[in-house]
Amino acid sequence: MAAYKFHVFQPGQPAINADTRFCAVYGFPIRHSASPAMHNAAFAALGLNWRYLAFEVHPDDLRAAIEGARVMGFAGLNLTVPHKLLALELVDALDKSARKWGAVNTIRFESAGVDGRAKIRAVGFNTDADAIVAALREDLKLELRRARVLLLGAGGAGRTAALKLAAEKVAELFLVNRTQSKARAVAAEIKRQFPSQRVTVGYPESGVDLLINATSLGLKPDDKLPLNKKRFSLDQARAVYDMIYRPAETALLKAARKAGCQTANGLGMLLHQGARAFEIWTGKPAPLGVMRRALEAEVYQSTVHGP
Ligand code: ATR
Repeated sequence: MAAYKFHVFQPGQPAINADTRFCAVYGFPIRHSASPAMHNAAFAALGLNWRYLAFEVHPDDLRAAIEGARVMGFAGLNLTVPHKLLALELVDALDKSARKWGAVNTIRFESAGVDGRAKIRAVGFNTDADAIVAALREDLKLELRRARVLLLGAGGAGRTAALKLAAEKVAELFLVNRTQSKARAVAAEIKRQFPSQRVTVGYPESGVDLLINATSLGLKPDDKLPLNKKRFSLDQARAVYDMIYRPAETALLKAARKAGCQTANGLGMLLHQGARAFEIWTGKPAPLGVMRRALEAEVYQSTVHGP
């Protein structure tokens, strides 16, 4: 397990001591994460003696890593690729957001009295679902209701996006995933929760208003495109959203821009899921402007790139 620490100290922030509270993000890979920059800036802005770290945790070690954070008194965790579904089984309790959207991207460690003894339990939340919609509205000015959407990916992030888009009453959802059985399982869950939602597993025959990449393809420079260009050409999409934010312009977004689509990367989604996680951990309103500026500086001005 390797640790990557960014911006551990911000000017004006209380020095690290025995009272410091810690949060962290776990992912595999993790080097691309801009979450430490965003959360440490927010802690500093509020004068909190809190720090946010990033750890590369292999999926086989996720249980031990969550347990480690719990016993060491961490305040909370974020989980990213590929942990959001695995974590459903590893926490002590699920908040209704995690139950509803079927994935955990945020954990809060809470004290609960058990048999007269204080015990810390891990509670799983999902802050991605609302963040997706906030980011799509903010960055692409999209009216989701009655939009036709092609969604690539049916892992933790894809599943959450699919369910949330159904809740927003999109006109039709097309689900594509490397492992088709996972896309079919998501379609079945949509039919169960939202019986009137039109959902198809596979590429559409005609154009869509929005294409979303919720796969991890694009994180690495030599990754292939997440879509089969023989089955769907980018000029059939009005807008393209990539949940990846580093690199700031993935090969998919570059191709989409060249095809004349409106495009946005995943920075807005990262911001909004992070702001909600911040509020869940600290109980204080998130300083959204500070967090946005920290993210933009980190992603658009830094020389650190993904692995
Ligand atoms: P997260 O929790 O962030 O969504 P995940 O659950 O591991 O992470 O999901 C990763 C997504 O990227 C999945 O849709 C995965 O496809 P599979 O379900 O077939 O695994 C997709 N993905 C990852 N690597 C891929 C690759 N090389 N080609 C195509 N899809 C890939």
